[in-house]
Amino acid sequence: MSTDTTQEKVVVRGLEGVIAAETSISYVDGVHGRLYYQGYDIHDLAEQTSFSEVVFLLWNGRLPTRAERDRFSSEIVADMRLPSQVVEMLRLTPPHSHPMAVLRTAVSMLANFDPDVEDISPEANRRKGRRLLAQIPTIIADLHRIRQGLPLISPDPDYGVSSNFIYMLRGTPPTELERKAMRVLMVLHADHGLAASTFAARVIASTLGDMHSAVVGAIGALKGPLHGGANQRVMEMVLNISGVDMVKEYIEGMLENRQRIMGFGHRVYRTEDPRTTHLRKYSEMLCEANGKRHLYEIQRRIEQTVLEAKGIYPNVDFYSATVQYALGIPPEYYTCVFTASRVAGWIAHIMEQYADNRLIRPTSKYIGELGLPFVPIDQRQA
Ligand code: COA
Repeated sequence: MSTDTTQEKVVVRGLEGVIAAETSISYVDGVHGRLYYQGYDIHDLAEQTSFSEVVFLLWNGRLPTRAERDRFSSEIVADMRLPSQVVEMLRLTPPHSHPMAVLRTAVSMLANFDPDVEDISPEANRRKGRRLLAQIPTIIADLHRIRQGLPLISPDPDYGVSSNFIYMLRGTPPTELERKAMRVLMVLHADHGLAASTFAARVIASTLGDMHSAVVGAIGALKGPLHGGANQRVMEMVLNISGVDMVKEYIEGMLENRQRIMGFGHRVYRTEDPRTTHLRKYSEMLCEANGKRHLYEIQRRIEQTVLEAKGIYPNVDFYSATVQYALGIPPEYYTCVFTASRVAGWIAHIMEQYADNRLIRPTSKYIGELGLPFVPIDQRQA
């Protein structure tokens, strides 16, 4: 008779430290605070690459030539238009529904218009991936403008995807500093090992489900406040603090009430998140340029206070909040912007999963009862 050994095993809460996949897409070195995309240090990529260049890298495992990068970028921008039915759906959503909920629905709806939806061949996946990457920024920009009662703006072929996003959202072209900041923001959010949303995408891909389904699942995971949903809450907290002098009291009050400080802590990093280093710098430059330096100062003081009190560091969501605020993006859209970038990584992981697939199906430790006497419904007592 076989024995069920699962019952003797220890449950790893939150799957901490469990290795669930092999990947060459990105590596998070939490001890030294380093992040690599396909072997390249994020510190080298952040300032010197465009978003489409990084997407090319994640999907192909090598950096593109200038001609390849330009062609890929133009192809993405050419794919940015949405089916009219999807735009109509955006108009039909109630104004109070969260932009991430609308984005999740819109991506699911896009699947119905994608000619390759059920084809999971590598060629079809690249076409679908490119379309998703192009259409998500348009969904976000269009939703914002519809809710503001503003006319929709078509992408400008002279801009890449990240500058086009700012242009289509605000209706004004980004300044040189804003273009750079948006590019860096998008590059830094593109992939991050087996984050919860990426794992969700890989689980769905492992059933040989289609790419849109996997991306919709990943959006659902990213939406939560313990993952991508933190950036909006960071901004709400910063705006709630009336000045630098109020920071200590505010943060200590939250910690006394055992509340989590959004934008702090990480499952993997035990030191500064390397993405923070760049975003902090852009937060300062943009806040300064746009007359919002006090918000940056408040954040610096929060960082100092949390580090002293708890010994934990800010994560990617902390300074990305004020970078986006200074770019004129409304806080409820911050997690959508995270999605617009991270979809690049999800697609890379979905393709990697398909390339060497085995159904992801862990097991659980049963802690309920067994062998209870069955009582027919008419004989059950309340
Ligand atoms: N604020 C206050 N305390 C925090 C904290 C935060 N943001 N993040 C972690 N901690 C504390 C926990 O209270 C716990 O302390 P305790 O042992 O005294 O109870 C300890 O640090 C470990 O936390 P734990 O929840 O086990 O870590 P985790 O690896 O499961 O969680 C996060 C990681 C990201 C979910 C967590 O740090 C968090 O909730 N951060 C805020 C949300 C956020 O910014 N998410 C974006 C992540 S990129």
